[in-house]
Amino acid sequence: MIDWKIDSWRKLPIKQVPKYSDMARVNSIEKELSVRPPLVFAEEARRLRKRMSEVAEGKAFLLQGGDCAESFAEHNANNIRDSFRVLLQMAVVLTFGSALPVIKIGRLAGQYSKPRSSSVEVINGVSLPSYRGDMVNDMAFDDKAREPNPERLLQVYDKSASTLNLVRAFASGGMADLTKLHEWNLEFVRGTNEANKYKELAAKITSSLEFMNACGMTPENTAQLRETEFYTSHEALLLNYEQALTRKDTITEEKGWFATSAHMLWVGDRTRSIDEAHIEYMRGIANPIGLKCGPSTDSDDLLRLIEKLNPLNQAGRLTLIARMGSDNVYKKLKPLISAVKKSGLIVGWCCDPMHGNTVKASTGFKTRKMDDIMAEVRGFFEVHNEMDTIPGGVHFEMTGQNVTECVGGVYEVSESNLADRYHTHCDPRLNATQSLELAFLVADLLAENRVGLGKKIAAVS
Ligand code: PEP
Ligand code: CO
Repeated sequence: MIDWKIDSWRKLPIKQVPKYSDMARVNSIEKELSVRPPLVFAEEARRLRKRMSEVAEGKAFLLQGGDCAESFAEHNANNIRDSFRVLLQMAVVLTFGSALPVIKIGRLAGQYSKPRSSSVEVINGVSLPSYRGDMVNDMAFDDKAREPNPERLLQVYDKSASTLNLVRAFASGGMADLTKLHEWNLEFVRGTNEANKYKELAAKITSSLEFMNACGMTPENTAQLRETEFYTSHEALLLNYEQALTRKDTITEEKGWFATSAHMLWVGDRTRSIDEAHIEYMRGIANPIGLKCGPSTDSDDLLRLIEKLNPLNQAGRLTLIARMGSDNVYKKLKPLISAVKKSGLIVGWCCDPMHGNTVKASTGFKTRKMDDIMAEVRGFFEVHNEMDTIPGGVHFEMTGQNVTECVGGVYEVSESNLADRYHTHCDPRLNATQSLELAFLVADLLAENRVGLGKKIAAVS
């Protein structure tokens, strides 16, 4: 990697970072983190890169999801278990719809820092620094809480390590048992038009598992029915934390630098300027990475970013996460897909139908409408179908809890319900039933797309 050093990002302009008052303490924490054990192993990140190359080629489908912002207050075993479980249930539905392996990546075990559209928050004439995630400061609206506190970097490391530990235990210790996972609660669709469609799909999954069981494949004798691969990801926002956990791989031939805070990192829509620090850091790590592409993304800039982030044009290295908004998806995504297709650059395409669809409810809550989310997913598939390219995956903000943050859905959450259980520390998330409902929609789109996909795979191979 030409002219790249683990700290070369430090010489460049940087956005969205906190201003600490005690820099000596920040430096000593960075030193401490740099000698702590890595959270993930380079070989795992390399294996995910291989999986993501299958996503780019249409041979696997990506499901990435989890909290907008993890929080210290919600860091407990039940929350981790419920998010993990719903993600896995969504994956079962998607696997069935697509007849493809589903690559599961959580937005968890490190998703603690947030970019903000304004650096200050004003309430009743009082102006304080914005909340930037529990990795930086506290959500409470007072001076002391909003002061960036570097001790939080160590807390994030500890909390991420314990989340990851539990997730690894779930993934291999019985929580991923397919024969139990599909027993989701379909109560939420009772009496609706969707009910029969969902029940039909659920019944098909049940009978497939029964068939496999009759053929002698059971969770006891078949690891694939009992265990799963599960990866972690977060936005690479606080680069001093990322640098401290970036390690040279000394074990394999590749011998590159790997971020070991998560398997996959992504760059946010606000920090993707080509000559700035975030892109500089990301270009040097060998992990699979994501790049958020919002409506302001220009085709030429995007091509230059892709070349900079993936100079060897490796499949699986870079996934573009489009978050255009339901009104914009067709018009904004098509030119980008077209330019990338023409260039011959290899990327995976993923749809984030959350971040372009945030609105303010009449009650003042930040929310998202299920209809808009679904419309963006549909638009994403439509453009790819037209362009003969591969809709590789979806990226959701969700939780396993029964929150009321997004409106709509079969089990209708209305604007007047938002206050009931609005717990997010940042953006509104899908609750467990809304997440499952969306998985059924995507499964439908994937099933429709399946015939076309065979043709596309043949063209790519
Ligand atoms: C996010 O994923 O939480 C986020 C802030 O996204 P974006 O950078 O796309 O706005
Ligand atoms: Co968000």
